[in-house]
Amino acid sequence: QTLNWNPVLVEKQGFRHYMLKEIHEQPGVVRAGLASFVNEADRINLKLPDRILDQIQNVQILACGTSWHAALVGKYLLEQLVHIPTSVQYASEYRYAPPPNLPNTLVIGVTQSGETADTLAALDLAKSRGDRCLGITNRPESSIGRIADSILDTQAGIEIGVAATKTFMAQLLMFYLLALDLADRHQTMPPDAIKDMVIGLRQLPAHMERILESQERYIEQLAHSFTHTRDFIYLGRGVNFPIALEGALKLKEISYIHAEGYPAGEMKHGPIALLDEDVPVVAIATPGKVYEKVLSNAQEAKARDAQLIGVAPLEDPVANETFDHLLPVPIVDEILSPMLTVIPLQLMAYQIAAHRGLDVDQPRNLAKSVTVE
Ligand code: G6P
Repeated sequence: QTLNWNPVLVEKQGFRHYMLKEIHEQPGVVRAGLASFVNEADRINLKLPDRILDQIQNVQILACGTSWHAALVGKYLLEQLVHIPTSVQYASEYRYAPPPNLPNTLVIGVTQSGETADTLAALDLAKSRGDRCLGITNRPESSIGRIADSILDTQAGIEIGVAATKTFMAQLLMFYLLALDLADRHQTMPPDAIKDMVIGLRQLPAHMERILESQERYIEQLAHSFTHTRDFIYLGRGVNFPIALEGALKLKEISYIHAEGYPAGEMKHGPIALLDEDVPVVAIATPGKVYEKVLSNAQEAKARDAQLIGVAPLEDPVANETFDHLLPVPIVDEILSPMLTVIPLQLMAYQIAAHRGLDVDQPRNLAKSVTVE
């Protein structure tokens, strides 16, 4: 089955590529998502039946590609905010080796297209095992809508660029709202803390706009230095580890440069052997639990002559001193930071691919929706 999107009907609105346009649409996507699911009193209502969300003891999330990275952020949120054990499986693995069936499990299938064959098959299997199934998708009318018991519609609007950007952002927002809704039901966070986090979410679009406005030119210039780079390492920790994976995937997908994402603390167990002046390291370092740790991991990379690019706050002199190139992000609650830190990484992947003269919106060998196994 193919999806009937007609790219010609969706304008680029002056942007050189759809991907760049979609990166710029992200603040609007977050505003729209909040308007749909959060009321004026900052109360979340996901419009899901109670039978989906009540008495959950375990969560299993099934996804592929970029959606799998959103799922990893979701796991972090569900475990840290709601204390629900959560596993994230590649759908292509789960379908042939599902984990043991546990009572009161919510299975979540995440797929922007709603048509990824592996994710559909995995969710179908979960359903046949009696688990309640929730789908998170940008295409509620797609096949996942028929398999899942309920759907959370990410409402990001049509995404043409094969490499997902705004649909990823919308998936992240859904996981924040889901985790906060469950934290309320399970009383793992006081109501005021939930409200503060919702207010923090509301402030993100303005921060995103600032990042987009202030960094576009700088990243475009910076990208010139990496047009011929062959390998990149991306480091992050905690809630930003999945963003390191996503930054590496974006670069790989559209610029065809080899890139690996690693939890920063694991660098010493392998990737450090790759480092020299030809392998730049991108580190995501935002104030919080693991900030100093990431900075010190980055300094270890620098000691191996790697060029260091930091996604970090401008205000910190240590970060300024550590990184050769700083892609600044405003300081927000660490747990909310992925929705900001991913943006400079999307822009960097985009600009490097554009400088290499590649077909950013339709990278070779990839498809927007992979409907075969
Ligand atoms: C393809 C796309 C990726 C996407 C993945 C999962 O490989 O190229 O950008 O992340 O499929 O897609 P889904 O629609 O299931 O989110």
